[in-house]
Amino acid sequence: MSQTRNEAPARAGANVRKVFIKTYGCQMNVYDSQRMGDALAGDGYEPTDAIEDADLVLLNTCHIREKAAEKIYSELGRIREMKIEREAQGRSLTVGVTGCVAQAEGPEIVERAPVVDLVVGPQAYHRLGGALARVAAGERVVETDLTTQDKFEKLPRQDGRQIAARGVTAFLTVQEGCDKFCTFCVVPYTRGAEVSRPFAAVMEEARRLAAAGVRELTLLGQNVNAWSGEGGGGRRLGLGGLLRELAEIPGIARLRYTTSHPRDMDDDLIAAHRDLAALMPYLHLPVQSGSDAILKAMNRRHKAGDYLRLLDRIREARPDIALSGDFIVGFPGESDADFEATMELVRQVRFAAAYSFKYSPRPGTPGAAMGGHVEEAVKTERLERLQALIREHQLAFQESFVGREQEVLVEKRGRHPGQMIGRSPFLLPVVVPQSAGAIGEIVTVRIEASLPNSLMAEGADHENRVAQPLRKIA
Ligand code: SAH
Ligand code: SF4
Ligand code: F3S
Repeated sequence: MSQTRNEAPARAGANVRKVFIKTYGCQMNVYDSQRMGDALAGDGYEPTDAIEDADLVLLNTCHIREKAAEKIYSELGRIREMKIEREAQGRSLTVGVTGCVAQAEGPEIVERAPVVDLVVGPQAYHRLGGALARVAAGERVVETDLTTQDKFEKLPRQDGRQIAARGVTAFLTVQEGCDKFCTFCVVPYTRGAEVSRPFAAVMEEARRLAAAGVRELTLLGQNVNAWSGEGGGGRRLGLGGLLRELAEIPGIARLRYTTSHPRDMDDDLIAAHRDLAALMPYLHLPVQSGSDAILKAMNRRHKAGDYLRLLDRIREARPDIALSGDFIVGFPGESDADFEATMELVRQVRFAAAYSFKYSPRPGTPGAAMGGHVEEAVKTERLERLQALIREHQLAFQESFVGREQEVLVEKRGRHPGQMIGRSPFLLPVVVPQSAGAIGEIVTVRIEASLPNSLMAEGADHENRVAQPLRKIA
């Protein structure tokens, strides 16, 4: 098996095949793209950032909102032109669609976009190599089985060099799929049922990442806090228990996890926020709406008050915790009063960051069939008001660090000579002077200024700096 793999690049000789992967959507797609890239490296494909050089183009897609899904077809239109030009020169181009649009629209894609040679859904990535072989033999392939096995176990392990090339922070998918069926959401249909990767597999991958120089791990899952597994001696573990084990791995200095559902924040996970210095004080906990009627229609299965009480408990465990959330405006039936309840919840919580979207009806979801759809103009107006409020809180949060010390994990070079970029425990990008420390080090710096999307540490200010400090009295 490994011999076949090793032979592939040699057979390709001077004419190494190149793969270009374009990633849309959430962090899980980023992780999946990396794993697909690693697997394809074993089949003799080198990654490229230039689509013009590619022999294989993969679009790793997102289906969450209509705009995200439609983008794929316009991209495929451009790729089609490229393929026609290529063929005129006697060169070939293989085109694949992976990810959530692949799962949701499988055969439809092949019909609507003749340029596409293969469609592989998120639970079938271990079949990518086989699918490519079938394409080479002249087939058009659609692989959209939603099995519940651990596909990652069937993909080759990442090697140290690949990991190190990606830097000192890494994603690690620990849970996939969703059984919650919120009425607006396609994820249960595109990612399948909730599955946890086994404890041993997660630990093995985390150790491998740490050994290659990773300092910060972000555990990923559509409902990451629904993770459960069996630790040493058959002990039942939840995400809190997993985090405690991961915190013991030498080299791992920081842990994060995303995305959590309020219903799965159990006592042990909350206690982990109190007990673990490595668990960063930042939590993405989407609530979607502040109105009980809308939460009910969305099938979130909690009320606004439950969410606020949960935050009280989390803040008791970790008083400095920064919160972020997701919101949908204009869900069917959302009245002015419902929307005001969302604004009120945001005023109470003061999120450090939050993402908000206009409701987008998705085919096949219960929400799309509900009555009381909200007019586009109303959605637009609500979204603007909500985003302005969120932005106000976000900027105030950033500003609160000016004059204070922060621990920054140095991640990469900055845009200007002499500058490096890292992140604070609260996930804020911080520009630090190069003299502060090397990539992979955690350095303590004093924050001097708050810029629109980052903080500037003392000594990092550079004459080339283009951004203006934020504190500007109009
Ligand atoms: N598992 C996460 C959400 C994953 S999807 C959770 O339960 O919170 C990411 C975000 O996209 C959601 O939180 C929601 O705010 C948004 N979203 C999902 N479906 C949407 C739709 N149909 N229209 C608009 N926004 C949507
Ligand atoms: Fe979608 Fe709800 Fe599942 Fe989140 S919990 S992925 S919003 S169905
Ligand atoms: Fe999009 Fe699928 Fe992620 S729909 S948000 S890529 S789980």
